[in-house]
Amino acid sequence: MSLNSSRVHELPADEAAVYRRLDPERLPHHVAIIMDGNGRWAGKRSLKRFFGHQQGAEAVQYVVETASRIGLPWLTLYAFSLENNLRRPKTEVNFLMRLLRTYLSNNVQRMNDNNVRIRYIGRTEDLPVEVRERMQWAAEATRLNTGTTLTLALNYGARSELVDAFRSLCAETQRTGLRPDDIDESDIHRHLYTAHMPDPDLLIRTSGEMRVSNFLLWQIAYTEIYVTGRLWPDFRGIHLLEAIEDYQRRERRYGGLSDGTESDDVASLPANQLVAGR
Ligand code: FPP
Repeated sequence: MSLNSSRVHELPADEAAVYRRLDPERLPHHVAIIMDGNGRWAGKRSLKRFFGHQQGAEAVQYVVETASRIGLPWLTLYAFSLENNLRRPKTEVNFLMRLLRTYLSNNVQRMNDNNVRIRYIGRTEDLPVEVRERMQWAAEATRLNTGTTLTLALNYGARSELVDAFRSLCAETQRTGLRPDDIDESDIHRHLYTAHMPDPDLLIRTSGEMRVSNFLLWQIAYTEIYVTGRLWPDFRGIHLLEAIEDYQRRERRYGGLSDGTESDDVASLPANQLVAGR
């Protein structure tokens, strides 16, 4: 399906050059990003980690605007994990909370200019009240925008999301008499924080780590993964487009065969040529 690309002319020249190499018929619908490397970015410059986070917040806005210009419907960013909340020094957690509030205050106008709607996933009810209030304000102020939906994962962990989903599904089974044997994948999906969203087509991770860090574990079952060594504060719209270009070179098989591959005629093989396999 071709996406709304009517604002492509607003891309800076270098991004436009990469965009022209893309197949507009095969753009992803949903890109999720694990933004990593803020601390290393600062360390390389002998700066405190806070500067890395600050620069990371700037990078967020660049990427959001490129996403909106190419008409990407869904962009989900891992901004603050449950583990960040539990395992980082209080001073860093407080700084990240302040940064989030500042980011929202400073960028809602730009989100509106770019037709971006902001939403959140995670155990956001456990965030400080002044952060929740600003989040709610930003969501309300951008509610009617119809371009990119920017979802920030905040105080998010995929295993906790599954726990919350199963709790709510169990409550439903008690209320409605839904029988365990009748539960299928769509019932789980309905109770996830992401029930209203398509699964990501592409997951990007910055700073070179080869792990998924408890992010969207259910939803990325068939997602293409792209890891770049670039640290998040250096990530820009052009790098999003390069990741999409790489994605377009992949063949998504969802456990099936490549197009045009003929299945082996297993029935005609002698029994001793059949070996156990996965
Ligand atoms: C990882 O860097 C990044 C985070 C802790 C989360 C991402 C936060 C931001 C991009 C800043 C603010 C975001 C918004 C939406 C305003 P790290 O500290 O783990 O880096 P390191 O692995 O190099 O130490």
